[in-house]
Amino acid sequence: MRLFLDSANIDEIEEAFEEYYPVLSGLTTNPTFFYREGIISIDSFFEQIGDIPIGELHVEAMGDTCDKIVEQCDKLNELNHHYRSNVDDSIAYKIPFSLHGLQAVENLNTFAQNIKTNVHLIYSVNQAFLALAAGATYVCPLMGRYDDIGSDSLTLIDEINSILGNGSILAASIRHPSHVKSLLLKNVGNITVPYKVLKLMMDHPLTERGILEFNEHESR
Ligand code: E4P
Repeated sequence: MRLFLDSANIDEIEEAFEEYYPVLSGLTTNPTFFYREGIISIDSFFEQIGDIPIGELHVEAMGDTCDKIVEQCDKLNELNHHYRSNVDDSIAYKIPFSLHGLQAVENLNTFAQNIKTNVHLIYSVNQAFLALAAGATYVCPLMGRYDDIGSDSLTLIDEINSILGNGSILAASIRHPSHVKSLLLKNVGNITVPYKVLKLMMDHPLTERGILEFNEHESR
């Protein structure tokens, strides 16, 4: 199982990969995160994160045709080579679920090896199946957004798991540590969490009390 940070906030990314590096395998972003952070140029984002040992970076490739999405992936690949120098700095192209997106996934796999694609905005088993059939590396259901409209994201995860297996799922839109716990109990292969949730995963009152007691007893 692998854990990713879900953020486009540079300070947060720097701090998280400096402190939580033993547990993080990569970073996921999306255009809305960039918009919220005032990042208007993807080039500047790559420049700012270039030296941070992030591992696998997921960035959205947008476009309303297959060609435009593939073109965007080529640009992201170039930026990745140019700015990121750590050995495990691979890139995964996040592609919103659509017919053009599926065509782009197939196209990318046909013309290059070891391409990683994350088909994003998955809200049904059928969409997950179509994404994997096209050759996606990951299918990305957005749990919080699904729950927000009164649906049950854990049922969706169970359905995708039971039919397609859990290794390709990258669960996103995580709102709280209970989401993470439920996903772990279902052996979901990949989970991306906001920094706030990552920090909350560390907490347990008995751990804090135990450390206080050990410190007190050790110094006597
Ligand atoms: C990550 O891949 C998703 O884009 C992200 O988790 C969405 O999070 P949100 O639903 O909190 O915006």
